[in-house]
Amino acid sequence: MAFGKYTVAALTLLASPVMAAGTDDLKDSEILAIYAQVNSFDIETAFLAISKDCAASTTELARHLSTDHLWVRRTVLDLAVENGLTYTLPAARIEAQITHDATMARLSELECDRFDGAFLEHDVAFHEAAIDAVRTVLLPAADNPALKSHFQDILPAFEHHLAMAKAVKAGGSVSDVANGGTE
Ligand SMILES: [Fe+2]
Repeated sequence: MAFGKYTVAALTLLASPVMAAGTDDLKDSEILAIYAQVNSFDIETAFLAISKDCAASTTELARHLSTDHLWVRRTVLDLAVENGLTYTLPAARIEAQITHDATMARLSELECDRFDGAFLEHDVAFHEAAIDAVRTVLLPAADNPALKSHFQDILPAFEHHLAMAKAVKAGGSVSDVANGGTE
């Protein structure tokens, strides 16, 4: 699969050395660990938004995101245990961790007058990248049927998160988007 077809956002999410190695080379154990890592990133930024307690619409969105991604992370852990799969984080994923830590540090320092906009901009880009990564990298590379099914089933929920984040970013609320999430 060609490296060049991926978006900048997807590259930010999935460190380029992993992509450059070719998606077919990703083992299920690596896919699971990458997926857990990415879910954890969104859980952390959502908890940060909840703790900031700025605009009510942003806090409400963050509660949805944290609840859903905790559920996804646990569900996939159960799937892994049931299927005898392990987690192996590729060494190259330290780049994604460094990027995420910088994002957390940057967002943490913002007061409410700037936090909401920065968080929402980050979260829209994050979900666009996550959806792209699941659809074009993780799903095609997964071998285990249960894992493949999970990715197919979860994409509408991720699309729902993206729609909610866009709605809040545009000045609306999560209730402006029809329910299609995991809740
Ligand atoms: Fe999400």
